Amino acid sequence: MAVHEILRMGDARLLRRAEPVQAFDTPQLHALVADLFDTMRAAGGAGLAAPQIGVNLRVVVFGTGQPIARYPDAPPVPVTVLVNPVLEPIGTEEQEGWEGCLSVPGLRAVVPRFRHLRYHGHDPHGARIDRTVSDFHARVVQHECDHLDGLLFPMRVRDFSRFGFTEVLFPEGLPGAAGNPAPRGD
Ligand code: NI
Repeated sequence: MAVHEILRMGDARLLRRAEPVQAFDTPQLHALVADLFDTMRAAGGAGLAAPQIGVNLRVVVFGTGQPIARYPDAPPVPVTVLVNPVLEPIGTEEQEGWEGCLSVPGLRAVVPRFRHLRYHGHDPHGARIDRTVSDFHARVVQHECDHLDGLLFPMRVRDFSRFGFTEVLFPEGLPGAAGNPAPRGD
């Protein structure tokens, strides 16, 4: 297990379409998952995708099971490893929310995401995961799985008047109070 360097926006490895995992329950896959969690936790993130540490495979981890400082107003998301995920938006309703990304340090933006989502895939042992979720949980999954298709949150921004440096946007610190939307994403 190890904490890896997180690639930053501008690195071409973040722009690739990642390859499906072909074999479950292998030492290599378990080691990758352990490294992703170590790296995510060291950075205080809400999620991390394998391409962010330079591994071009369709693997994401997310969730802490408890609130985290980067997203103080976000409800806890269960600790999850998702391999070869498939996302199916439910309906067309979108929800805006603040997002950041460990590959885009210091910046935040309001990003529209589908509010309701079914996602499925496998855990590292090959067991099937199939969940229907909404709101912040749905946002985190969409953000992380975008990384598997070479997409970073700035590519999803529609209103660039709500895109900027975190410390300028939120000089009092990240909002956690009711009525003030907390930044969301990884
Ligand atoms: Ni990200």
